[in-house]
Amino acid sequence: MTTKSSTSTKSVPSFAVIPGAQVQNALEGREKQIVELAEATYRLHSAGDSVNPPSYFLRFSDRPTSRIIALPASIGGQVKVDGIKWISSFPENVAAGIPRASAVLILNDHDTGYPFACMEASIISATRTAAMAAMAADWFSRGRQRPTRIGFFGTGLIARYIHKFLAGTDWSFDEIGVYDLSADSAAGFRGYLEKSDAANKITVHDSAEQLIRSSDILVFATIAGEPHVKDLSWFEHNPLVLHVSLRDLAPEILLASTNFVDDVEHCLKANTSPHLAEQLTGNRDFLQGTLGDLMAERVTVPADRPLIFSPFGLGVLDLAVGKHIYDEVTRAGELQVIEDFFHELKRYG
Ligand SMILES: NC(=O)c1ccc[n+]([C@@H]2O[C@H](COP(=O)([O-])OP(=O)(O)OC[C@H]3O[C@@H](n4cnc5c(N)ncnc54)[C@H](O)[C@@H]3O)[C@@H](O)[C@H]2O)c1
Repeated sequence: MTTKSSTSTKSVPSFAVIPGAQVQNALEGREKQIVELAEATYRLHSAGDSVNPPSYFLRFSDRPTSRIIALPASIGGQVKVDGIKWISSFPENVAAGIPRASAVLILNDHDTGYPFACMEASIISATRTAAMAAMAADWFSRGRQRPTRIGFFGTGLIARYIHKFLAGTDWSFDEIGVYDLSADSAAGFRGYLEKSDAANKITVHDSAEQLIRSSDILVFATIAGEPHVKDLSWFEHNPLVLHVSLRDLAPEILLASTNFVDDVEHCLKANTSPHLAEQLTGNRDFLQGTLGDLMAERVTVPADRPLIFSPFGLGVLDLAVGKHIYDEVTRAGELQVIEDFFHELKRYG
């Protein structure tokens, strides 16, 4: 980080803007490295070396389907960075041909608190979500045969990133199933899969039941606000479910399954399916633990029930990916600094 002026040992950092193209460039082809980064960061978080307060949801009475979420966080360890992701979800954007989610990430300097970067963060958010999903798929299938039939339930940006991260971390699939309420989304995702030579057999299903019954690993990435999958018999083959969109499954399905989350306090709120299961039973007994518990060998994974992982998504992961990109862009000598961003620097003028 370059400095503008300095008094004693502290100095004001420069301020940089990192647009989406630079973000994407810094991440391209680095899936394994990013999954390792996500895993190291998640371990730090699980060990308590982070601050990750509850996300703040801004909602609007005149636009009830939309929201903007603030995710402040701080990472310790070697990384030492603070910051916040500010991410909008406006589902009606999709019909107008622009992405649902848009975001910025602000990085703050550990020593002075000064913001030192503002970055395009929809790619960062999709990347950390996909890295976490790929990491979970790996951990939950250790010690057993890896699933080779995957189903994508909801086929927007997040589904594409999760596929990219699975493929980039050596997963291969014999069959890929796809289901989406929107025929255009399903066709677009199928086109992406065909281009990336993803599987021998790609099937666009016209029923949710068909997709679920024919998949050993399922990725839920819809924008459903309340449960719409309610039939437990569809899960009788005990699939691994990456429940990334968090609100698709009826609580009764969770209660008949093994449940893991990324962070208990984060996930059991905002009417996620685990939150509904807690409200239904009045307790958290249905939770087997966190992915961190599994990584630390504090819990095991029974194979005789469906396994559902519901990751709320942690701000510390956005920060870690963001700081990694900042360092890469800096190393490449391509940082776009806004000169004199901080202006009023002399206490008495
Ligand atoms: N847990 C996390 O860490 C995390 C992080 C980022 C995004 N997300 C969530 O992932 C989800 C997907 O995000 P995205 O950017 O891909 O959204 P998107 O709008 O690009 O795509 C969502 C897709 O789901 C489809 N869909 C909506 N309701 C459906 C239903 N009931 N059944 C089948 N398909 C349905 C839509 O037609 C659309 O194609 C969102 O809910 C988002 O909040 C979770």
